[in-house]
Amino acid sequence: MEDFLWWRDGVIYQIYPRSFADSNGDGLGDLTGIISRLDYLSNLGIDAIWLSPFYPTPDKDFGYDISNYVEVDPRFGSLADFDRLVAEAHQRGIRLILDLVLNHTSDQHPWFQESRSRRDNPKRDWYIWRDQPNNWQASFGGRAWEYDPATSQYYLHLFTKEQPDVNWRNPEVRKAQMDVFRFWMERGVDGFRLDVFNAYFKHPDLPDNPPRFGLRGFDRQRHIFDIDQPEMMPFLNEMRLLLDSHPERYAVGETYIATPQKTVSYCGPDKLHAAFSFDFTFMDLFYPIFPWNPRWVMEQVIKREETFNAANVWPTTVMSNHDLPRAASRYARGENDSQTFLAMTLLLTLRGTPFMYYGEEIGMRDIHLQRSEILDPPGKKYWPIYNGRDGCRSPMQWDDSIFGGFSTAKPWLPVHPNTLQRNVRSQQADPGSLFNFTKKLLALRKEIPALRGGDFVPLETPRGMLAYLRQTKGQSVLMALNFGRRKKKFSLPDGDWRMLLTTAKGSPGALTPYEIQMLILE
Ligand code: NOJ
Repeated sequence: MEDFLWWRDGVIYQIYPRSFADSNGDGLGDLTGIISRLDYLSNLGIDAIWLSPFYPTPDKDFGYDISNYVEVDPRFGSLADFDRLVAEAHQRGIRLILDLVLNHTSDQHPWFQESRSRRDNPKRDWYIWRDQPNNWQASFGGRAWEYDPATSQYYLHLFTKEQPDVNWRNPEVRKAQMDVFRFWMERGVDGFRLDVFNAYFKHPDLPDNPPRFGLRGFDRQRHIFDIDQPEMMPFLNEMRLLLDSHPERYAVGETYIATPQKTVSYCGPDKLHAAFSFDFTFMDLFYPIFPWNPRWVMEQVIKREETFNAANVWPTTVMSNHDLPRAASRYARGENDSQTFLAMTLLLTLRGTPFMYYGEEIGMRDIHLQRSEILDPPGKKYWPIYNGRDGCRSPMQWDDSIFGGFSTAKPWLPVHPNTLQRNVRSQQADPGSLFNFTKKLLALRKEIPALRGGDFVPLETPRGMLAYLRQTKGQSVLMALNFGRRKKKFSLPDGDWRMLLTTAKGSPGALTPYEIQMLILE
């Protein structure tokens, strides 16, 4: 394990703080709650935590509208709690990644309050003000410009109107944002997830985006002037220099509607360490269709292997996050877990850093809400075509008590009723559970270098299953996954293959329905 690099070889676990663990009985998760569950995470075997925002926020986008970048929202705790979280995580060998949302602030941020106060305010140019809007659209619907009667101009917002975009072309803004990185690095943070980073810079002249075919306004234009501007690169170089001034710091970018080619272009030794490529989570609000069959999965993997290998960039694997229906809800029927085992296997054995979303290890499903219960802004706007993202943000299911062991009070979002059966406690006690399978896979990743750093080699198989090797010079591991309810047989490559892990009773190369096999070449 001596060449183990945490962000490349480890597994990163995303926590949505308000839904993980509530320590003070207010129905909202908090930092102390997270601290109380660190032993659980350490025992599960993850290497790092990505914390979704816990900064002060008016909750117009549930934390992604930040009114102070360098504080903790009192509902989630204090800076002292945060310091304790860093120390306690580090004691257990767990790294901490923060979510930096630097494309926009909340409209309640003092910077914006000043900016909107007068046209000649020194912070006026910290945001993007114009007399006339262009044709840009907000990704949560409607125009990307809001008229502010106080100063009779429009300001730009690529998300809700309560999330004004900051003007990254202003050197003072850039410096203030770099100071945010510094502030948290000095508090011991190991890395950052950069929210929609490729939207920081807009074209200086703000030209109209050209049209294209699409259903809603946002999709009816080509996003060539509102994202992916060349000024991004020098900024990434500057940011990387800062990160590299501390040992083993990391930055992963959330690419916003970028092609895979663009995504890899942002990564490298003087840029980001990684950027998400959402190979398995493609979703358009109006086409919530998620393909899921072995042929399609293999196509995605091969495509991304080609792009990332050609650019010499280390990939990431994401099956679920706080913006999407959970993989278990996309692929599984009811409470049947055969597809969630498959998704977990891919997450943890493909080449790339796995990002696991809280509750994924027990196969948590999305909750269903009535219209009146919906909190998420795009869900409110587009219901019933799109219900928003509350579904995947429900409280962690620790046990079978009324609030799932998450809180003693009614939580901010309902706990899934299946917590009666599906919860951490019951799965810990069941040797055949997804939880214990996940734990085994995590342990095997630690033991077997080929599973972490090995090349990916696809294998020929009959339809309905997929198989691949993970291979280093000295080690070959074979993964075989049967996606269907028929038995499958395929010919193993030459050699003496020993079974390391199976979910059923098949013999090497002969898989029972939905079986997953991991074999190693002796
Ligand atoms: C991407 C985040 O993942 C999402 O949750 C948020 O709403 C938008 N960026 C705006 O910050």
